[in-house]
Amino acid sequence: MESGDGALSATSLDESITSFFTSAPPLKESDNLRERVMEFVELNSTIAAAGDGGHRKVVCVTSGGTTVPLEQRCVRYIDNFSSGHRGATSAEYFVKAGYAVVFLHRRGTIMPYTRSLPEDPLLECLELDGDSSIRGLIEFLSLITHTSPHLPQAVAGNLLLKLPFTTIFEYLQMLQIIAKAMKPLGPLAMFYLAAAVSDFYVPWQTMAEHKIQSASGPLDMRLVQVPKMLAILRKEWAPLAFCISFKLETDSKILLEKADMALRKYKMHMVIANELLTRKEEVTVVTVDGKIPVYRDKSQPDSDVEQPLTELIRNKHSTYIKNTNR
Ligand code: PMT
Repeated sequence: MESGDGALSATSLDESITSFFTSAPPLKESDNLRERVMEFVELNSTIAAAGDGGHRKVVCVTSGGTTVPLEQRCVRYIDNFSSGHRGATSAEYFVKAGYAVVFLHRRGTIMPYTRSLPEDPLLECLELDGDSSIRGLIEFLSLITHTSPHLPQAVAGNLLLKLPFTTIFEYLQMLQIIAKAMKPLGPLAMFYLAAAVSDFYVPWQTMAEHKIQSASGPLDMRLVQVPKMLAILRKEWAPLAFCISFKLETDSKILLEKADMALRKYKMHMVIANELLTRKEEVTVVTVDGKIPVYRDKSQPDSDVEQPLTELIRNKHSTYIKNTNR
């Protein structure tokens, strides 16, 4: 679902953004979502934190792939690949570093604090006693806290707000609500856009209502380009927030050039370039000042690339806050 970054002029981009939002099926319980996000942001922004403007920073981490429904009563859809590992792991490191995290994730993908658990943790830990009562809850809790030592910090500190999406329509409407709620935080807000976002979609009004029938022969369907929301995020939704987008390619020869293009075109503070096959081993942080490769520490068996990556990002965010508050 790669668009080649499109070549829309500013006016036609504005038009395609307006058309996307006006034609999208309305988000369910959007008022409730807005209230929850505003409450989470307000609560965390009043909490004092050492350094960086004296208040807790808030990051919106997006994770997992968006779907593009092909029918309004959806039976079939096009999906975007992402296991959610990058987002979930990064969210854990941000919480550990004292950030409050809005975790906008695809339903059913990897969640923070669960990636090291066995596939069926409940069934593995719980067993029936002779009298048919369930044993093993203590083992289950100990497994969770052992594999995820920072889970209590997230739970007790109200540091993680989990918001699920499935479709591209839900994702972009939710991102807009979250960004506008985070706007008052100014530079203390950060966006870490690791979700794999669809580049093409079927507009709701041209979409078949019922299941498409195979008896009608080959399927001929027109997909429209999803407008990139990065520019409007920077310009209108949260202009002072520190913004990081990701660039995924399967061809290493074009990766850095495309990341560089995205950095300049959408005025991102950083673009994290990664290749599908090596994404768990290395990434390149692309900034206007240069390109920084970041590697997983291979000498440590349980290491991941998100640990050094999020550390570098936190440092850059701190510098950005200092420079913006000057
Ligand atoms: O989840 P994992 O299995 O761990 O994999 C992680 C990952 C490879 C999915 C992740 O590291 C990653 O690269 N995510 C971004 C994938 C992606 O959508 O790349 P892109 O080149 O198509 O888009 C670039 C950026 O533009 C993204 O930050 C996206 O949020 C944004 N975008 C994309 C399309 C669109 N219509 N609007 C957007 O704003």
